Amino acid sequence: MIYLDNAATSFPKPEAVYRAVERCMRTFAANPGRSGHKLALQAGREIYLTREAAAELFHVSDPFRMIFTANATESLNLALKGILQPGDHVITSSMEHNSVLRPLSALKEHGIMVTIVPCTRQGSLEPDAVQAAIQPNTRLIAVTHASNVTGTIMPVKEIMEMARDRQILLLLDASQTAGILDIDLAECPVDLLAAPGHKGLLGPQGTGLLYIREGLHLKTMKEGGTGSRSEELTQPELIPDRYESGTLNTPGIVGLGAGIQYVKSHRAQIQERETQLTRFFLEELKKVKGVILYGADDVNAPRTGVVSMNIGDLDSCEAACRLDQEFDICTRPGLHCAPLAHRTIGTLDRGTVRFSIGFETTEAEMIETLDAIRQIASHS
Ligand code: ALA
Repeated sequence: MIYLDNAATSFPKPEAVYRAVERCMRTFAANPGRSGHKLALQAGREIYLTREAAAELFHVSDPFRMIFTANATESLNLALKGILQPGDHVITSSMEHNSVLRPLSALKEHGIMVTIVPCTRQGSLEPDAVQAAIQPNTRLIAVTHASNVTGTIMPVKEIMEMARDRQILLLLDASQTAGILDIDLAECPVDLLAAPGHKGLLGPQGTGLLYIREGLHLKTMKEGGTGSRSEELTQPELIPDRYESGTLNTPGIVGLGAGIQYVKSHRAQIQERETQLTRFFLEELKKVKGVILYGADDVNAPRTGVVSMNIGDLDSCEAACRLDQEFDICTRPGLHCAPLAHRTIGTLDRGTVRFSIGFETTEAEMIETLDAIRQIASHS
């Protein structure tokens, strides 16, 4: 089996992740931050170690600014709904995932104004178009770091500088880049960063992160027990407790810690290999008659290991089904929860077949995948 659906979730995980989850569940998965007995303290310590590792990875000096969530969707909801107030204006792009577009759509009903800046047909976002959308009441710019459909990497630094000059907050959706690209928040200080734990950070599903820069105070999405200030009936201000009510996903977070450690020691090699494999794949795909590629034309343009394509007139679901059934290759077809991105690149009618490379993908697997695509293309 060849797994090329790492943009949905990375698979497999490093061995250390499996071992960490099992060790946690078998030996210390008590309730962290509660009770005060040995196991609860160990669970709390191990959660802190993941928080610290995540902070180090993104060059954040205070680990308590890293909030654990269930996934990037939850992080994005907390960021958007926690920051935006009635009367605020927010700018986003047409390459966003529904995890940004749907919360914004819901917020529109509460008096928040939304501008969706159209991206180019190749999926890139022009900083000038963002600039032109700024209004006096623009409070936030929410953009993806890289498209989950085309792999296009967005000009985050320019947008960050533009936002900072105008005192507009910037929320970066790092769903496709956390653990894959070098994200240095000391050098590129965005205000909020949302990341899944189970994609490039190589942790288990059910884990996510939200970085909230110092000085930002968000409305909460949930209130409840935190194990702190229990005499008070109102949600404590203390972070991370303010945003982390309820028992945390201790085994998931401990596994995420192991994933982040793996990423920290291998990130540069992972990025280099994924870039090489993606370029090789794109160059070879360009030679296959009937294959239609999306995203930047230039194979050397900055992109993640995500390639979207179609084969002749085949529906993307049929092509992906054939790849799975006949060749044992896992991809994701359809709209990838990003309908506006597909409208932008002209594929809203049938979607695309998306191949997403992971840290363990090999050149041999890409050669086999190319053979499968050639076979399908020759009979379609
Ligand atoms: N957002 C994930 C994807 O692009 C699930 O597949």
